[in-house]
Amino acid sequence: MARKDDSLLKNLQKEHIEGRLCLVTGATSGIGKATAIGLLELGAQVVITARDIARGQATQREIQMKSGRSRVELYELDLASQDSIRKFIKDFKKRHKGLDVLINNAGVFHPERAESADGVEATFAVNHLGPFLLTESLLDVLKKNAPSRIINVASALHYQAKTDFLSGGPALDRKENYSGFQAYNDSKLCNVIYTMDLLRKLQSQNISVYAFHPGVVDTGLVREYPGFVKFAWSMLSKSAKKAAIPLVELASLPDPGPSGTYFHGKKRKKPLAVANDATSADRLRQISEELLS
Ligand SMILES: NC(=O)c1ccc[n+]([C@@H]2O[C@H](COP(=O)([O-])OP(=O)(O)OC[C@H]3O[C@@H](n4cnc5c(N)ncnc54)[C@H](OP(=O)(O)O)[C@@H]3O)[C@@H](O)[C@H]2O)c1
Repeated sequence: MARKDDSLLKNLQKEHIEGRLCLVTGATSGIGKATAIGLLELGAQVVITARDIARGQATQREIQMKSGRSRVELYELDLASQDSIRKFIKDFKKRHKGLDVLINNAGVFHPERAESADGVEATFAVNHLGPFLLTESLLDVLKKNAPSRIINVASALHYQAKTDFLSGGPALDRKENYSGFQAYNDSKLCNVIYTMDLLRKLQSQNISVYAFHPGVVDTGLVREYPGFVKFAWSMLSKSAKKAAIPLVELASLPDPGPSGTYFHGKKRKKPLAVANDATSADRLRQISEELLS
């Protein structure tokens, strides 16, 4: 059972989040797992997803034990497969008519080029295209429970992004001169561009949207990189539990800040200027829709 006096969340208000339904993707590890625990501790009802159901079940038990709460549901979801996303949506909507908070947290940082089940470069597929399909498909249930909230876990590495991938084709496929860092940075810029796109589209719907950078965090994100990268990352980083606090706040506070804010931890920051450019958002939406089969 969780020792409540240990909880870093003890000062957060429970009133607004208690009993509300929060969906956290990528909760089998790192920031997602810590966030799910935090939300449960505050009395939320939490849905977690996992691409490997056995690992998901182990996580579900761990989360229940650490939070001392049982209200956590598990679904299978592989963001690298559009079929899996569509199946998840169907299963989720069979049980739930509404959703209060969607946290698009799952993400990858591949050093080597890979492809999704649908033949899309994997970093773009998992970090942007999958969450795009997921979010667009959940807008009806988010509207049902409005005021509701979407939080996209982005990264400060989006400041290092280039925008050539918005021209599509080879720049998006990255078959030549693949760089894991560039693919990741660009995908994280997509998270911020898409957040601002949603802001424009959902203005009258009472669904708030936020982009969030958790800081450098000691998680499994760089697990595929050589030892020295993992070592340097861990030296610079904070724990997932600490990084999750502002994310849990963002999900649970009655008014965390204006919709469309990019948060670096608890601080409001200006994202890269292109994130506010409607033409780039339209282009990203067009590319994304064309890649959905
Ligand atoms: N760590 C940092 O320093 C840092 C900094 C800035 C932003 N972020 C962002 O924070 C988010 C969480 O990352 P993390 O640091 O907590 O990393 P992590 O420990 O590697 O967790 C990533 C989560 O995403 C899931 N995931 C990976 N591929 C997936 C797929 N195809 N379908 C569904 N889920 C998938 C993983 O599931 P499996 O367990 O099945 O692999 C895992 O639960 C990411 O969006 C990342 O970009 C992290």
